[in-house]
This record gives sequence, C-alpha cells and structure tokens, in this order.
Amino acid sequence: MVFVNTHSVRRPLKTPQGVDFWGGNGYISFMAFQHSTGAGAGNALRLAAPCKINLHLAVQDLRDDGYHNLESLFVTLAFGDTLIVTPHGGAGSTAVRMDWQYAQGPCSGGYTRPEQEPLIPLEKNSVFKAASLFRLCTGFSEGVHITVEKRVPLGSGLGGGSSDAASTLMAMNLLAGSAAAPDEMAEMALELGSDVPFFLSQGGAAWVSGRGEKIAPAPFPHGLSILLVCPDFSSDTAAAFRLLDRDRAGRATPEALSKAALVRQTAQDPQTWTYYNDFLPVFTGTSQDADKPRAGAYRRILRGITESGAAFAGLSGTGSSCFGVFTDKAAAAAAQKALASQNHLAFLTVPLARFSNRVLEWN
Ligand code: C5P
Repeated sequence: MVFVNTHSVRRPLKTPQGVDFWGGNGYISFMAFQHSTGAGAGNALRLAAPCKINLHLAVQDLRDDGYHNLESLFVTLAFGDTLIVTPHGGAGSTAVRMDWQYAQGPCSGGYTRPEQEPLIPLEKNSVFKAASLFRLCTGFSEGVHITVEKRVPLGSGLGGGSSDAASTLMAMNLLAGSAAAPDEMAEMALELGSDVPFFLSQGGAAWVSGRGEKIAPAPFPHGLSILLVCPDFSSDTAAAFRLLDRDRAGRATPEALSKAALVRQTAQDPQTWTYYNDFLPVFTGTSQDADKPRAGAYRRILRGITESGAAFAGLSGTGSSCFGVFTDKAAAAAAQKALASQNHLAFLTVPLARFSNRVLEWN
C-alpha cells in the first residue's frame, strides 16, 4: 500500500488514469487526480476517508454525560469516501459539495439502485462542521472548497460521516501548517463525534473504549474478504442508544466477555469468534419498541450472509449495515451476487491496514 508523505511530496503524482483507490480487490493504488481548480485556487488535496465495521460492540454503563462506555473492535476497510479540498480566495468561507456516488465503482459489483440524492443541511454536514470547528479553534481563515465523493451510505453504521470529519480536520491542519497540536486535534475529533477519534488515529484494527476516545491498535489477520450489506433504511445512532436503554431498563448491564479472551480471538479462525453487537438483540428481539419490518430485514440479511458461506456475520455500529467475514474470496464474490440479487446494496472489500497518512495527492 502506498500513501503520499505530504511533507515531502507536493508535486502532482503520475498515476494511471482510472485506477481506483477503493478497488475492493485488496490492491490499493492512487486514483487519478482530476479535480479542476478555479482561478486563484491554491494547492488541492485529495484524501481518503475509509469506512469501518465494528466486529465487536459491547455497550457498557450509561455515564453522567449521557454517553455510554463502549468496548469495541473497529476495523477500517478499503472502501470509503474521497475528499478533494481546494483553498480559494474567499476568506473564512467553507463551501461543501456532495458528489453522490452510491453503488458505483468496483466494490459495488456493478449493482446500482436508483437513489434520490439525500439532502444534508449544511449545519448537519460532518465536513462543514469539522471545518468550522477547526476555524474556531485555530483562527485559520483561508477559504476552502471541499468536494466529497460520497460512497458510504448515510446512517449505515459504517462511520462514513465520522471518517469524512476526521479527513477534513487533517486537511485543514495541513493547509494551516499544523496550527493544531495532536492533543487539540484529538479534542476537536471527540467534540465532532464519538467515532471521529478512531478515524483520526491510524485506522487498521483497534480496540476502542471509553466514549470512543481510547484507542488501542490490534493485530488483524490477513487474507479476509468483507462483504457489506446495506438495507434500504438508515439507522439513527441516538435513537438506537435510547432503544437499548429502554430495553435494559430495570435490568443490570450484561456482563461483558473477558477482554483478554476477546483480544486473543482475533488471531483465531473467524468461525470460532464469539464477537457480538449489543444492538442486534435489541433490533431483532421481541421488545415492544422493536421495529418489526426492520427486525425481519436484519434477520433475512444475516441469514443470507451466513448461508452464503461467511465464517462470521454481524451488525456494524448501530446499524443499518450488516457484514460477512469470508476466508474464501470466491465465496465472498458469490455471496455479493446473491445478496445484490435480493435487492440489497452489497459492497465487497478487504480490511485496510494501519496507515500513517490519508493524503492521496497534493498538487
Ligand atoms: O458521538 P455521537 O454524535 O456519534 O453520538 C450520537 C449519540 O449516540 C449520542 O448523542 C448518544 O446518545 C449516543 N452515544 C452514546 N455513547 C457513545 C456514543 C454515542 O450514548 N459512546
């Protein structure tokens, strides 16, 4: 895997046209840089914003600040959004353009579902929020235009918005000549969302705890394929936590599995993993509050993934995406076809190793 060291490379890179960074075939290379820069524009940065799955997600106690302590195994994937950040003349202004590319590119297996372009109010756009917070904390005032090539579905539990926010912070800090120190960047990340500190870290596999700010890198086995299956509904994180709290009301927080045992499992055959997601029984259980059609959809998707030969299947984050872990690449490709034929958005990809830099190009 090759990443540009932004401190030493400031020239356009000669890259093969059309080679896709998010190739989904385990081979990662540079995408041709085609963003046009307007009159008066400065250096344009192109950054990766990979998505993640939670192989394990245990929700622990409710804290005084309204958040929950978590114990989760995050893994970044070679699938995600791309950000193109171009400085421009207008002092202090941040313009964000969303370029919706759902169900495009090799990861999607050629399956496309007609999508109405979602409308995100600017004040809820994680890229705009990250750029604004960075300006507030550092006083950085250079105008920027940010285009987000958006591939990760919204509200899918894959951390697309959080990853976009982390990449925005990194881009702004590069343009601002490292105006923010690492601890200030970490603070801004947590303020933007509980998953953002993970994406600001070097990604790969990591045990994440606390609210999401404690990150311990973990080893991860090679040679696994990951199938993401996104149902045609999104999931609201805050609502999911409220549902879990109601479901647990009057009962003690379930005893978590021993962390040491969970950590050891990563090196073992995925078929033996006992990782779980505390939201799954809440979404698919018999609680009054559970949404019955959605419960049925989750069950069908997970059954479909398991019957297609996955060594492990689970729910990512607070949903709505499910995933399968495959030890056999051909079986994973066949599973993608089978799930896509059932009208699901299905992406086939691989885990992304730890990376020190998200910048793909800077010219
Ligand atoms: O931090 P983030 O904006 O992603 O959180 C969205 C909502 O999810 C929070 O308002 C909170 O209700 C819930 N949450 C939580 N505990 C966490 C993370 C999120 O209760 N560790």
